[in-house]
Amino acid sequence: MRIIVGISGASGVVLGLELLKALKEHPVETHLLISEGARITFQYETEAIQDDVITLADHYYDMNDLAAPISSGSFPIDGMVIIPCSMKTLSAIAHGYADNLMVRAADVCLKENRRVVLVPRETPLGKVHLKNMLEAADNGCAIIPPMLTFYNSPHSLQDQIDHLIGKILMQFGLEHGAFKPWPGKKESDG
Ligand SMILES: Cc1cc2nc3c(=O)[nH]c(=O)nc-3n(C[C@H](O)[C@H](O)[C@H](O)COP(=O)(O)O)c2cc1C
Repeated sequence: MRIIVGISGASGVVLGLELLKALKEHPVETHLLISEGARITFQYETEAIQDDVITLADHYYDMNDLAAPISSGSFPIDGMVIIPCSMKTLSAIAHGYADNLMVRAADVCLKENRRVVLVPRETPLGKVHLKNMLEAADNGCAIIPPMLTFYNSPHSLQDQIDHLIGKILMQFGLEHGAFKPWPGKKESDG
């Protein structure tokens, strides 16, 4: 399986790092894109440097390299995840404004009926953000915001991240070891 991972400049760039780590546990070839906005956000939010992220991926592309293999539908790819997805990149994908390789690759996946998962991050969400999410969903994207989980007794931020990563991997039929699904109602609950 081949999956493109795009990390854009919304808060929560560490989520992209965590997804790459989780994908290493599977026979998945990863193709990585990091936007300029994400580079800046990495500096504010993490101690990781760009090289730490790049070494987790099998292939890495410059965002301006519109001639890269993933820019064409003839290159076989199973799908793409943009995590986190900024409101700017969401807007570009929702409207097909493919002026960088991240948006172009998503655009190509959508036209080829391949899975595109967006993890949009902003709060509060304005009307334009909500409209763009609906537009992206109408165009075939799965929208998985980094929502908090409570039903599986999380104890840490890592538990929250693992839940999100598990939900994303499910979109590709993959399991995440640390993911705790809803166990169902206990018999003792009546
Ligand atoms: C520390 C930091 C946090 C940011 N958080 C968000 C955010 O949560 N959501 C968002 O849409 N943009 C956020 N931004 C703004 C984006 O980085 C900016 O709009 C950028 O142009 C997005 O470009 P890109 O999608 O190509 O990465 C943040 C910027 C910085 C520096």
